[in-house]
Amino acid sequence: MQYSQIIKPENRVILISGASSGIGLAIAKYLLNEGYSLSLGVRNIEKAKKLFSKCRSNNYIINKFEATELKTIDCWVDNTIKRFGQIDGLINNAGILKIVSFDEGEIEDLNELWKVNVVAPFYLTKLCLPHIKKTNNGRIINIASTDGKRYRESVSIGYSMVKHALISMSHATRNAGWDDGIRVTAVCPGAVDTNLLNGIPGITASKDRLKPETIAYTVAYILSLPNTASVSELPINTRLESTI
Ligand SMILES: NC(=O)c1ccc[n+]([C@@H]2O[C@H](COP(=O)([O-])OP(=O)(O)OC[C@H]3O[C@@H](n4cnc5c(N)ncnc54)[C@H](OP(=O)(O)O)[C@@H]3O)[C@@H](O)[C@H]2O)c1
Repeated sequence: MQYSQIIKPENRVILISGASSGIGLAIAKYLLNEGYSLSLGVRNIEKAKKLFSKCRSNNYIINKFEATELKTIDCWVDNTIKRFGQIDGLINNAGILKIVSFDEGEIEDLNELWKVNVVAPFYLTKLCLPHIKKTNNGRIINIASTDGKRYRESVSIGYSMVKHALISMSHATRNAGWDDGIRVTAVCPGAVDTNLLNGIPGITASKDRLKPETIAYTVAYILSLPNTASVSELPINTRLESTI
């Protein structure tokens, strides 16, 4: 096997949104351990400081990120450039799940789903793209969902809608960055064992769910692939469905 093309973590600066819980936290810990430099976007800075205080690497900064306040994204990207001088990658992970169907939930819930799961990743991507383009081998990973790949009865219609939109944005980003060496992936997990699923009816039992660490491992693998190995979408299911 020829491994010489694999991209090494050293001197690679990656932004991760929602790095203080669930999948984002697992990705951040995994990538820190691998040797990446991280710029973490979180709602609660004190909580994040405690979570990362015992990590072997201190090659990270913690920034305020509130998805519904876009000016926090401007500050986060500026801080990253001030601290590291470059941005090599972005992981749009932060997201929420609210039940919105024709019978349940309010339009406000749908608006919040849209703001957190689509508008904030769009704005973060827009601000990071000029920096990531300069590296000629930048990477962007959007944590979407199997709910962005198909509509399944019993899933929140609102959540399914915004995850479809995120995947669409992911492909648009892939086109926008391709000539500058940026490779973009929509990772589409099935049920993952995090707090996101608390209280959601009819969801896969905890013991049968993916673990956040499995997604973290997958993200690290995608980040390491060369420009000639672009994975546009990666569904990872925990249950048998006909096409995903
Ligand atoms: N769990 C699943 O089954 C599953 C499956 C497929 C895809 N996903 C996707 O994976 C991503 C991570 O979810 P998770 O499962 O790890 O859930 P989680 O444990 O609830 O984590 C969600 C993260 O998003 C952050 N967040 C939520 N609202 C925010 C806002 N307004 N501004 C800034 N940050 C905000 C949270 O911040 P706090 O730490 O402050 O709460 C948290 O870090 C989401 O995009 C989700 O849709 C999850």
